Amino acid sequence: MKSDLISMNDLDLADIEHYLDLAHQVEGLPAQERVRLLAGRVLMVMFYEPSTRTRLSFESAMQKLGGGVIGFSETASTSIAKGESFSDTVLTCERYADAIVVRHPKEGTARLAAETASIPIINAGDGTNQHPTQTLLDLYTIKKCHGQVDNVRIAFVGDLKYSRTVHSLFQALLKYQGVKFTLVSPESLRLPGYLKLSAEGRQLDFDETDDLQAALAQNDIVYMTRIQAERFADIMDYEKVKNAYCLEARMLAGAPANLKVLHPLPRVNEISPDVDKSRFAGYFDQVESGVIVRQGILLSLLGVL
Ligand code: CP
Repeated sequence: MKSDLISMNDLDLADIEHYLDLAHQVEGLPAQERVRLLAGRVLMVMFYEPSTRTRLSFESAMQKLGGGVIGFSETASTSIAKGESFSDTVLTCERYADAIVVRHPKEGTARLAAETASIPIINAGDGTNQHPTQTLLDLYTIKKCHGQVDNVRIAFVGDLKYSRTVHSLFQALLKYQGVKFTLVSPESLRLPGYLKLSAEGRQLDFDETDDLQAALAQNDIVYMTRIQAERFADIMDYEKVKNAYCLEARMLAGAPANLKVLHPLPRVNEISPDVDKSRFAGYFDQVESGVIVRQGILLSLLGVL
């Protein structure tokens, strides 16, 4: 039976740890050994939304494993522009490749692709819903920074309503022991209610605030997010919150020595460049982890490791 990677909800803790272990294993392999692992295989990238990191890190991951990559990064030059359906596009693309990575603005589209295709489907972000490969690289980075995920204290900051990276990572962290959350956002961008329920439907208890400065003093990870203009139905609502948070180096003066600032990127103005050179900046290490973690995912879904 084929495997897909669609949602963190589909994974239990052992599955998540398996992916993280694979990434660790891949990191330990010599480059000349890695490059033979997916020789002759083809990865299809179907991107209906812009991307820099997710698409390029998948392409890099596949090529470093000896495989090839084909696909599209926008739809205008494909037959989607002539009205071809999503399902027909998937049914066509699967004839050319061994696995498909799909990003789409609509929630549930990756699941639809998985139900349509007979080859592995990897969700590279579906609307405001899920971004599981980002979550796995976030967890990998957290482990590298703090040695473990259990008992970590994490503040999510910014757009908690529409951010699929927050939704995915939040759900994954609930599977670990003793993780403490601080949710920092404007009132209009609070985490959706459905995410605040336990698996048994019990209301979970979180510290919700709009005070970023206070959160910096009390956490091990500060996970910044972009306020995403493209997710707002009314641009005036975006205008009201677009500058809600800007983390500057001076604000980190009293922060715990081992605090790490993470961000899925791209950023707009929510982290000042003066944080980049500080010991707190972890967001470009996240970018680097993306290739290793996605190599592990490809090797797992293609049945090599
Ligand atoms: N983190 C992330 O998904 O970045 P891209 O949109 O550049 O792929």
